[in-house]
Amino acid sequence: RAGHAMRVETTIAGVRAARRLFPSIGLVPTMGFLHDGHLSLIRRARRECGAVAVSIFVNPTQFAPSEDLSRYPRDLPRDLEMLRGAGVDLVFVPEVAEMYPPGYATGVSVSGPVAEVLEAAVRPGHFAAVATVVTKLFNIVQPDRAYFGQKDAQQAAVIRKMARDLDMPLEVVIGNTVRDPDGVAMSSRNVYLSAADRVLAARLPAALRAVREAFAAGERDPDQLRSLLRLQLDDPAMLIDYASIADPDTLSELQAADARPGMRALALLAVRIGRTRLIDNLRLDLP
Ligand code: PAJ
Repeated sequence: RAGHAMRVETTIAGVRAARRLFPSIGLVPTMGFLHDGHLSLIRRARRECGAVAVSIFVNPTQFAPSEDLSRYPRDLPRDLEMLRGAGVDLVFVPEVAEMYPPGYATGVSVSGPVAEVLEAAVRPGHFAAVATVVTKLFNIVQPDRAYFGQKDAQQAAVIRKMARDLDMPLEVVIGNTVRDPDGVAMSSRNVYLSAADRVLAARLPAALRAVREAFAAGERDPDQLRSLLRLQLDDPAMLIDYASIADPDTLSELQAADARPGMRALALLAVRIGRTRLIDNLRLDLP
């Protein structure tokens, strides 16, 4: 399908009209500045759906005042070129006022452990804002399947739970994390990293792999695994927000009492290197 006409819509009405052309469609929500992580979700959607829609919207409500909204990287012409090359059928690129017109006053709230720990503890309101914008995108595009990345493990868990709790009529699909050759998980924010920062950033996936090796060698004590994770990242230039060994579904911290041979475990990291905050995660019980 590469080279066919791609419809680019900036209004909700435009998307609704274009949507009628496709009997079924997969949606990949993004904030743009696309990379191979996004493209892997788009390629998967192309394999699994009759048509593919991508949204590009830097959602202001999910950024705290202290965060990087104003300097979030953007390059719409390049993004559209990449989406054309990937054979995408429909792109939704709304302005902020199209999504949040004056007087906008409704939102989806999220609660439970998944909405309180880790990222949620550091970024109050973040997941409610993500859940709200994703709900709006679902209602606008009405996809049969929606694609999210395991890179943002907690976001994936929140959205999967939201879709189930609110009986949303679509399937949430989670794609594997795509990494650069140095192991660093691809992220639009990686452009903020200097060459020296980038060397430090590579220590996150290395630490996650080291913990997975300890797990493979039989270590099951969550406290030992957490200590190992921290030890690998012991550097004055890196500030650890959290180094977690958690249940892969609920993201609640595993305790000593959970240790057993068949234990499922997800290691999660959030680390600040200079002004840049990086997150990454790795399943310990999978190859
Ligand atoms: P964004 O950071 O642009 O990411 C869009 C999607 O790509 C998310 O589902 C994310 O998990 C996935 N992704 C990012 N990096 C990836 C990688 N290296 N490998 C695999 N998938 C990756 O996440 C958001 O935007 C926003 O919060 C959004 C869901 C669009 C709501 O505003």
